[in-house]
Amino acid sequence: MANGPVGVGIIGAGNISDQYLKHLTKFPDLRVLAIGDLLEDRAKAQADAYDVPHAGGIDLVLEHPDIDIVVNITIPAAHVEVSEAIIDNGKHVWSEKPIGVDRESSLGLLEKADAAGLRVGVAPDTVLGPGVQTAKRAIARGDIGRPLFAQTSFQWQGPELFHPNPGFLYARGGGPLLDMGPYYVSALIHFFGPVASVAALGLKATESRRVLTGPQTGDEFPVEIPSTVSVLMEFEEGGQAQSLYSFDSPLFRHGVVEITGTEGTLVIPDPNTFGGSIRITRPLLEAVVPPAPIVQEVVDVPQEGVMVGRGLGVLDMARSIRENRPHVATGRFGYHVLDTLLSIEESVESHAFTPVTSTIDDVGALAADFDPFAATL
Ligand SMILES: NC(=O)c1ccc[n+]([C@@H]2O[C@H](COP(=O)([O-])OP(=O)(O)OC[C@H]3O[C@@H](n4cnc5c(N)ncnc54)[C@H](O)[C@@H]3O)[C@@H](O)[C@H]2O)c1
Repeated sequence: MANGPVGVGIIGAGNISDQYLKHLTKFPDLRVLAIGDLLEDRAKAQADAYDVPHAGGIDLVLEHPDIDIVVNITIPAAHVEVSEAIIDNGKHVWSEKPIGVDRESSLGLLEKADAAGLRVGVAPDTVLGPGVQTAKRAIARGDIGRPLFAQTSFQWQGPELFHPNPGFLYARGGGPLLDMGPYYVSALIHFFGPVASVAALGLKATESRRVLTGPQTGDEFPVEIPSTVSVLMEFEEGGQAQSLYSFDSPLFRHGVVEITGTEGTLVIPDPNTFGGSIRITRPLLEAVVPPAPIVQEVVDVPQEGVMVGRGLGVLDMARSIRENRPHVATGRFGYHVLDTLLSIEESVESHAFTPVTSTIDDVGALAADFDPFAATL
């Protein structure tokens, strides 16, 4: 790679591409050079909106000589195929989550990238944001004592409330587990380390649902996966978590992540955002005798780092490649998350605790002074 900004291409100009384009086009260390999509008009419209010089089909991106990293924001079922094409063309990959929809092809991708000396990075990069990274530092320095367990909740009525093409979110590779689980499981792995085993129950409220917005409003589509999943997790280095993932709940209660240690309960911002309020509730040190009110000490943990949005992981990967150090959101991390989620699905089927066979040696962290808007390359 030459000096100066790293050339970036994008494949997939759908719903989430705005969030990527908004940020990737603002980082001085990156230059977005081309956008491709199966639907070329979609790519062209996004290129016009964000002043990206080239747009068209995916070959345009794959073959562009000045692009070093390609961001794959296609649908989950296409992730591995598109990521492999990127590697085959000698470029590094940043893939939206999940890395793939099955273990075999996802591992194959990682092996192909290793053999070619190319990197794979996998979303979510929300967990690289100031929210999760500040909480991670607080836990590591002992702010809540020894971490014991976590509770997370993601429950609402489902993504057809906003998404004009929600079918893929109820197909294999989607569902509340595969679609939203990556945010919660990735945050938990940052706090507790790799997952050892899982147990889960799941259900489907209905066999089909309807599109609620956009040109296909009213169209029916099948529900192929459990639309509600309750999970227990055990971590290799100790610690437990219980999590709810549901697209069936009229009560919206999402973004809940609470980590309890021997000296406090830490509440972090929604792991599908980059930051927010981080607070620790301290234990009561004396008995509370009724009718005395329960008054608990709650302390704020000041959030460290610059708030940005999607694209942060691509930037960390670009800088890491140039500086010859590991990036944080690695393909192996993304694979361990997928392996955990598939083990949860298998536990739903078997009604048994299921070991998670993959692991990761080292979960990286983003430095508190990481400045996305500095020109460093
Ligand atoms: N929509 C969100 O809020 C959101 C948030 C975070 C992450 N994501 C993730 O981003 C990814 C994309 O989601 P989306 O909501 O933008 O989906 P989308 O359906 O709106 O867009 C996907 C785009 O990819 C294109 N595409 C599909 N297969 C392709 C292929 N083989 N080659 C080239 N282009 C192809 C489609 O034509 C479409 O334009 C998914 O992995 C999703 O999990 C979405």
